[in-house]
Amino acid sequence: MKDFELYNPTKLVFGAGKVQQLGELVKPYGTQVLLVYGGGSIKRSGLYDEVISQLNSIGATVHELSGVEPNPRLTTINKGIDICRSEKIEFVLAVGGGSVLDASKAIAAGALYDGDVWDFTIRKAVIQKALPIGTVLTLAATGSEMNGNAVISNWETQQKRGLGSKLVYPKFSILDPKLTYSVPKDQTANGIVDIMSHVFEQYFSLTTNTPLQERFAESILQTVIENGEKAIDNGSDYDARANLLLAGTFALNGTLPIGVVTDWASHGIEHEVSAIYDIAHGAGLAIIFPNWMKHVYQERIDRFVQYAVRVWGIDPSGKSDEEVALAGIAATRAYFTRIGAPATLGELGIGGENIDRMAAEATVFGPIGSFKSLDKEAVKSILTASL
Ligand code: NZQ
Ligand code: ZN
Repeated sequence: MKDFELYNPTKLVFGAGKVQQLGELVKPYGTQVLLVYGGGSIKRSGLYDEVISQLNSIGATVHELSGVEPNPRLTTINKGIDICRSEKIEFVLAVGGGSVLDASKAIAAGALYDGDVWDFTIRKAVIQKALPIGTVLTLAATGSEMNGNAVISNWETQQKRGLGSKLVYPKFSILDPKLTYSVPKDQTANGIVDIMSHVFEQYFSLTTNTPLQERFAESILQTVIENGEKAIDNGSDYDARANLLLAGTFALNGTLPIGVVTDWASHGIEHEVSAIYDIAHGAGLAIIFPNWMKHVYQERIDRFVQYAVRVWGIDPSGKSDEEVALAGIAATRAYFTRIGAPATLGELGIGGENIDRMAAEATVFGPIGSFKSLDKEAVKSILTASL
């Protein structure tokens, strides 16, 4: 195990009806509030009205940025930054899925920065200050509700990049499983794949002597696998939605990477696909991750054997390590297919025309991944296997 520091200041408020606490949670941060949301799901569900009534109850002046896209765009984020500056916003409230939360983090940091917010993603500047933000999450997937990361897209240059800082951790996040009842089956599946992928990025590690971290990871995977299918079958299954929501938060809130070298190559590759084709992040991961697994499993076959046996219950007796490892990878693909996630880029209408460019962008700062270092050619071969 490696040395580590663990810091997570986000207050989680979990349970049905907890939006009723929103006003009191926002109150300490001021009355000029920017409410950020997406394409309208929160209006259809009635959540918007509840949020407005909570903000009215504390006498807040509410400014709105709506229409945040899935794969949130720089142009929209810049509109939010302009509102923050002109209206002297004191608090940014994100209500929606990961895209809304990520856009809000970028707005919160960009509002207090003189340059272009994109600078934070290309390592030209480091976030020095940010407006406080809070979230009401409506979709189990990214973990953005309890971390300091945001992923944003520059549609003009077709680039998708991340920014991060401890300064953009949400001050609080409200997680009400009932708010996720209306998430359609395909988005539920995308979220399931994203959560599992976050665990994979941190579990498939060359670091040794990390039994607690491994079992944390395996327990999240098993919880998602069991409850994911239930949530797909019955979107209003409270227990399934609650377990999925909690698993999503803990998959990427800093618990799993303690003392461990993490990978993140598959996310890097997927972001390049989303940058050009604007596909859902989880759908891209469903296609790419099993192919990454096949590409790397021989680097440390014992971890893949452990994964197959402990997570998928594969019986190793009479089988070689290779067979067990491959059975675990096949079980992963079969599960993704069972919940309706795509298996090939072709299913999304994507051909091989941009593979060279995507591989070049994914490795623009050098080889990616730590379980197995991937150069441009290796990324090309994973993308080609994904066609
Ligand atoms: O825009 P609205 O109308 O709200 O609809 C959204 C959107 O169309 C809809 N939705 C959300 N909650 C709903 C709902 N529909 C019905 N009922 C509800 N309760 O779902 C659609 C997708 O929303 P989005 O926010 O894009 O999904 P997700 O949460 O999967 O976020 C994906 C984004 O997060 C980034 C991804 O790259 C992608 O841009 N990521 C962020 C990370 C982070 N900050 O730590 C890590 C991840 O690995 C990921 O990269
Ligand atoms: Zn992800």
